Amino acid sequence: PRKIIIDTDPGQDDAVAILLALASPQDIDVIGITTVAGNVPLALTTRNARMVCELAGKPDAKIYQGCDRPLAHSLVTAEHVHGKSGLDGPTLPEPVMPIQDQHAVDYIIDTLRSEEAGTVTLCPLGPLTNIATALQRAPDIAGRIAEIVLMGGAYFEVGNITPAAEFNIYVDPEAAEIVFKCGAPITVMPLDVTHKALVTKPRNDAFRALGNAVGVAAAQMTDFFERFDKEKYGSEGAPLHDPCVTAYLIQPDLFKGRHINVEIETKSDLTRGMTVADWWGVTDRPPNATFIGDVDADGFFALLTDRLARL
Ligand code: BDR
Ligand code: CA
Repeated sequence: PRKIIIDTDPGQDDAVAILLALASPQDIDVIGITTVAGNVPLALTTRNARMVCELAGKPDAKIYQGCDRPLAHSLVTAEHVHGKSGLDGPTLPEPVMPIQDQHAVDYIIDTLRSEEAGTVTLCPLGPLTNIATALQRAPDIAGRIAEIVLMGGAYFEVGNITPAAEFNIYVDPEAAEIVFKCGAPITVMPLDVTHKALVTKPRNDAFRALGNAVGVAAAQMTDFFERFDKEKYGSEGAPLHDPCVTAYLIQPDLFKGRHINVEIETKSDLTRGMTVADWWGVTDRPPNATFIGDVDADGFFALLTDRLARL
């Protein structure tokens, strides 16, 4: 199995991404979960990560708390999408599992230095503050990362928090710039692909019909998460942004993309956080990321439903 660190700001879709990973030990070894401020403030994302691990029956998972604010700006949150708790929908018990003492950034640095080079994959599902801080503090780790598979950005689907920017990149564009320039192999799940991974009514019913606590909670979370997109975009089902990352690690052939140049806009007030993706190769800037544009949505949901049944 591939060793991964999930860096996350749960978030209902983060929660489903984590559940998919924890349900797939033959493919993925979740060696650590690091939390970051994003959808809601850090104390809540950490609480939610603990609730999700307990829901999965994995209270031994190692959770490290990370940065509570972006590198250069104040935090922008998304309660309008995820609810006040960040994980509205199901009623889950208050978590009791411990938070590790080490700071997430130190954990990321130490792990990349102590594990064999090229064996640890980073999976950022929120703003890139923890990863960028680790890279800034310890530039030597860049060459030791197997791959960074992240959810963020948009090209044809443009923005969901401003007309130009996707939430994760918008919240900390300075961090995103550091990550996209770091030289490690990067695979990106932008809105272009996540807006094709929609929890339609039959797919939601399939989660609920699993009958286990995880299936029911996944159905309740996606029910809640859908409200926003339905109202705003007329979307028939919640887009499962972050689970695209963990599904890609298990079954990469479900996804299609291009290896292209992606730059981050950090200056302009109008387009801050935009992922300027050279999809058509109109510049001679060197490719630095594989930008995913398409997913076999039925295959993705078949995988997800099959794996959630195992928890
Ligand atoms: C991203 O922003 C968050 O609201 C979601 O959890 C996802 O990571 C989608 O733009
Ligand atoms: Ca997220």
